[in-house]
Amino acid sequence: MTASNRIPLAGVIGSPVAHSKSPLIFRTWLRQLGLRGYYIPMDVSSADLEAALRNLPKLGFVGVNVTIPHKEAVLQMADQVSDRAALIGSANTLTFLDDGRIYADNTDGYGFLENLRQTAPGWDPKSGPAAVLGAGGAARAVLSSLIDAGAPEIRLTNRTRSRAEALAREFGTKVRVQDWVQAGNMLDGAATVVNATSLGMTGKGELRVPLDALAKTALVTDLVYAPLETPLLAQARSIGCTTVDGLGMLLYQATPGFERWFGMKAEVTEDLRAVVLR
Ligand code: ATR
Repeated sequence: MTASNRIPLAGVIGSPVAHSKSPLIFRTWLRQLGLRGYYIPMDVSSADLEAALRNLPKLGFVGVNVTIPHKEAVLQMADQVSDRAALIGSANTLTFLDDGRIYADNTDGYGFLENLRQTAPGWDPKSGPAAVLGAGGAARAVLSSLIDAGAPEIRLTNRTRSRAEALAREFGTKVRVQDWVQAGNMLDGAATVVNATSLGMTGKGELRVPLDALAKTALVTDLVYAPLETPLLAQARSIGCTTVDGLGMLLYQATPGFERWFGMKAEVTEDLRAVVLR
């Protein structure tokens, strides 16, 4: 078989990787579009990561998604890094170029924004400050994309204040750190509210932020998608806010990789959401 008529292979690398929804997402698109191709979960240790990445193109892989704990480490191994991956400080989408070089990109911020734009077309990130809770890896992608989208100010809070301050130093003067115990205050006048902590997830602690200061014109979104409607989203909805769940971010962040590797546009539909939720 020549390289050109090889069946394209892609997959997700992590450790553990069994929980990843990516195989289900990619296989659904491959089936719906009638494309030849396979998408494989690969549990790879940190010690084996670089050797695995160097060998995958030789086996017919066109690219891979990367998940915990390798998202930062792959940046060092890549031959080319997109601006947004460099800014976020991690990569989730690696494309193997024809000459075997590795191109690292991060589509988390894209997924975050695209989910909001498609689900809430009336939302305008420029219309007012954003309030972001959390300062982990997910928050980095959220901050970079909100700045990119023109949010005039970003109020950031985190249980561990020093992590929020480190992000503010990196992302510039638009980012203002607020104290975690006063998180409710930063909702006053916010146009966009984002939970980028793991609080609210099934089995994790509750996110306790009073929403009294929140205007009903605000858009509220949660990166947690299990449950789909977190207590934060339920409360915000009862006030009258537009709410967007976090499942869409997971689905939209996968679309650029699919298009690059398999050559067709992947659609995020209600059917796909139902498949992933089942
Ligand atoms: P991710 O890549 O999903 O962002 P992470 O880097 O582990 O994961 O970040 C998890 C986020 O949830 C952090 O903002 C974390 O706050 P700390 O930096 O103080 O750890 C937040 N988080 C997790 N458990 C929390 C809790 N019980 N109370 C408050 N914040 C919590």
